[in-house]
Parts: sequence; structure tokens; C-alpha cells
Amino acid sequence: MLEEIKPNDEKSRDETSWDSTLRPKNLSEYIGQNSMKEALAITIAAAKKRGEPIEHVLLHGGAGLGKTTLAHIIAREMGGNFRITSGPAIERAGDLAAIVTNLEEGDILFIDEIHRINKNIEEVLYPAMEEFVLDIIVGKGPSAKTLRLNLPRFTLIGATTKLSQMSSPLRDRFGSVFRLEYYEPSEIAEIIKRSARILSLTVADDAVETIAARARRTPRVANRILKRVRDFGEVKNKRKLARNDCIEALALLDIDERGLERIDRKILETIITTFGGGPVGLNALAAAVGEEMETIEDIHEPFLLQIGFLERTPRGRAATEAAYEHVKIKNNSQAQKKLVI
Ligand code: ADE
Repeated sequence: MLEEIKPNDEKSRDETSWDSTLRPKNLSEYIGQNSMKEALAITIAAAKKRGEPIEHVLLHGGAGLGKTTLAHIIAREMGGNFRITSGPAIERAGDLAAIVTNLEEGDILFIDEIHRINKNIEEVLYPAMEEFVLDIIVGKGPSAKTLRLNLPRFTLIGATTKLSQMSSPLRDRFGSVFRLEYYEPSEIAEIIKRSARILSLTVADDAVETIAARARRTPRVANRILKRVRDFGEVKNKRKLARNDCIEALALLDIDERGLERIDRKILETIITTFGGGPVGLNALAAAVGEEMETIEDIHEPFLLQIGFLERTPRGRAATEAAYEHVKIKNNSQAQKKLVI
């Protein structure tokens, strides 16, 4: 339920630690999100000067934009241990009590998907965040007593993809709230080049651009594609990865020019063909596509909205003109391929 990472842990560079190898270790290595980085650097420097932990931080934004990475960086910059859990993993108030009573002064407690935390547990979190105390009820009925335990001063970093699902009392208890934006293609290209250096890969500039264009403006996706392209290059004995290698590898992964995967295209095609372009409710759409509502809402929809392929209306999701164009082009090129065969 809880993972502890000491501040100076260095993991070996094996397959399982790839993600942590690629993760920037400090703010100066972190590419993009410039205004947030500036504000965060000041908050960190001021807290260090006062010799205090930084106030609780709430990070929100789409999946894969670097919320966990930032939390690691904050822990490292502040010199505290990094402890990680998630909203759904804290099932009972006792789970949270066990976590916070084991913290040390200056530790960072990272709660991922904090919007999914249970309401009863939220109540326990409030005094822990505000006054660094834990109120425990001992016994039952009229003889029940409240015990107050003092906690070390720690920093809670909450991460969420759904700020609107968080209660305002919880939101209000964070000293800083930062929103992570989708990255510019040039920033994604920089991230790919940095990752390629770390992985000792030689990638041509136009190959980097090709990956960047299909990475959904998201570092996690960019790094994932880079690793798959690396596999492709390894199998084909390529010493330098060229644009064509990327195109072939991306075709195998079924990722198109706009970064859409098969499931994204299926969502658009279903809205267009089964529901006349929409609007259609999420429930009906998920059933027709054969995917979970949460997966569509959290993973696929944000990017389709971002690139203007999908619209959210009060009556549901609708495909845009651009989505029609894209699906038509894709179908045409597929039909042509079949003709050639
Ligand atoms: N890897 C993932 N996110 C990153 C970022 N913002 N900067 C550098 N490397 C990253």
C-alpha cells in the first residue's frame, strides 16, 4: 500500500527502472511547464531558507504529464523521504493513520488519485494537514474517547486528473495548486532527445520530430514510443534510428500521424457510424466501444478534446468536423492498402 523511497536511492539501470532512469531528478532537468516551475522553485527556496517543509501541494492535469515526477523532484530538493500511496489504496481511516504516524519530519507523502479518497478518510486528513495532529477515537458508545496524536511536519502532495471531483474543503487545504498543461511539440522533442541520450540511442532529428508529432503532447507517451522504436532498431540492427524506422515502428504499434491509437479511432468511428456523430452519453458509448467508461473518460477523451476531434455537450459527446475528416482519410488509406494487396 505504501512505498518508501529514501532521498538518495539510486536504482540500477535495468529494464524495470527505465522509468525512474528517464525521470528528471531536479527542476533544472525538468523540461516545460515553465511558469509552474518558476513558482515552485520560489516556494522551495523560501521554505528551505526558513528551514521548514513546504506547504502541501496539489498537482492536477492529464495522465502522463509528470505529476509523480514533480513530486519526486520536490522530495529530492527538500531532502525528505518520498512515500507514495493512492486515494483508492487507503481503504480505512486506520490505513491513513498507519501511514501518517510513520512519517518523519520533512517527509513527502504523495497521494495519487487523491480525488478518489473516501469522504470519512478525508475528515481524518484535515487536522493532519492543518495542525499536524491525528484524532483517534478509542472505544465505542458513551465511554468512547478521542486521543490526539502529534504528527511530524510533513508535506502532502496530492495528484489528480479530476480536480472537479475533489471536495472544496480538501482543495482549500493545499498551500499551492498547480495545473500541468499539455506540452508543446518542441518540448516533447527536447524530452525525447534527453531520453535518447540517457538510453545511449542515436536518433535522427526528423525521427525525433516524427515521434514528437505522435506523442499526444505527453512525455509518458513520448518515452513509451521511443522505447518501442528502440526495440525495433535493436531487432533490425540499426545503429542510428532514422525517420523511416520510426514510421515503421509506429505503424506496427498502430499509432497514426496524429498520435491516435486503434481505440481512439474506434471511439470516433463509433460516434460517427453508430450514433450519427453524436451527441451520445458516455455510458452508451462505452458499451458500444467495449471499453470501460473511466478509461474512455480519463485516458482517451482528454486528448481527443484537446485536438478538437471531440466536443462535450450537455447531451453527451459529439464528433467534430475534424474527426470526420480524420476518420475518412484513415479509412481511405486503409481501403487503398487493401486494393494494392
Ligand atoms: N520525462 C517526463 N517528463 C519530463 C519532463 N517534463 N522533462 C524532462 N523529462 C521528462
